[in-house]
Amino acid sequence: MASAGGAGFGGLADLEAAAGRKANPAAWAYVQGGAGDESSLRANRRAFDRWTLRPRALADIAVIDPTTSLLGTSVTAPFYVAPTAYHGELDRAGEVGTARAAAAAGVLAMFSTLSTRSLEEIGAAVPRGPRWFQIYLQPDFRATRRLVERAEAAGFGALVLTVDLPVLANRDRQAEGGFAFDGTTPMGNGPDLVLPPRGPVRDGLLFRIPGAEAYTWRVLDDLRSITRLPVVVKGILTDEDARRSVDCGARAVVVSNHGGRQLDGAPAGLDVLPEVVAEVGSRAEVYLDGGVRRGRDILIALGLGARAVGLGRPILWGLAAGGEAGVSRVIELLRMELATVMALSGRARVDAIDRTLVAAAPSTE
Ligand code: GLV
Repeated sequence: MASAGGAGFGGLADLEAAAGRKANPAAWAYVQGGAGDESSLRANRRAFDRWTLRPRALADIAVIDPTTSLLGTSVTAPFYVAPTAYHGELDRAGEVGTARAAAAAGVLAMFSTLSTRSLEEIGAAVPRGPRWFQIYLQPDFRATRRLVERAEAAGFGALVLTVDLPVLANRDRQAEGGFAFDGTTPMGNGPDLVLPPRGPVRDGLLFRIPGAEAYTWRVLDDLRSITRLPVVVKGILTDEDARRSVDCGARAVVVSNHGGRQLDGAPAGLDVLPEVVAEVGSRAEVYLDGGVRRGRDILIALGLGARAVGLGRPILWGLAAGGEAGVSRVIELLRMELATVMALSGRARVDAIDRTLVAAAPSTE
């Protein structure tokens, strides 16, 4: 039976502190920072405090089963490794270490277009690990198409199209820390990848977004016409866009404010999760990311209708603190904590975590 100890770390907060001591300061500012005044970053954590749990006593909890499936893929937990960039800035193994830890645990991992290891290296490292590929649209659709073909050939099981990063937000902490985001970081998927522009380009009285002609809803049809993989749309914060995504063929949506790293002032994903689930929950899977740190958070999100939640920064903390073993530790911690809160709330299976488990917290204002 797995113990709560191991790898020399207590909880996630320990791992975060250890990661902060080990990581290079510029990379750390990049990981930890958000956009603007970081109000959306803070909102992600606060959103969970607006809910309480309604535990049921004396349920049969002799066997706790946290397994589930995501678009038909069996996984050992209703959480997954969210796509984040540049793992090689935190540990030499980079995404290969992350992939190995996720595959060994049987959890789904999503890998970014902006990875430091190539998607072929990741696929070769975990031939059987459940993995999906996150796409940043390239201004020239032929370049996007090449990425899609490579992801299919390397055994990725779905495409996760990120739609909330047409330009990079103002990220003061990242800029002060000196993280460049200018092409100097090794790009595992090839030097030709076009990074999202740092911002609008002034053009007289107007501003232009280079390559943005490619970024309209039409691209979902274009993507679906060149792949047999299911398409997931990530970065949805309204019921309108959730409906539009599913109408355009998305099999799942990720409710997300990009870890508070894009539009500062955007709501926490958790705050809009109920409206998105009400709008598309019967037609598509709905996932959530942003601020998930505890088993409790997972219960709340699943209770509000998410099928799974994504872990962004916590995985990077594990990687920075202890490489592949650190990522394994994060996954094990969360699985153990989830099992504990499932037992405490009287929910032995993931499908027993439903809306009756959550209630609005009494207002403290
Ligand atoms: C990339 O996806 C980032 O948020 O920096």
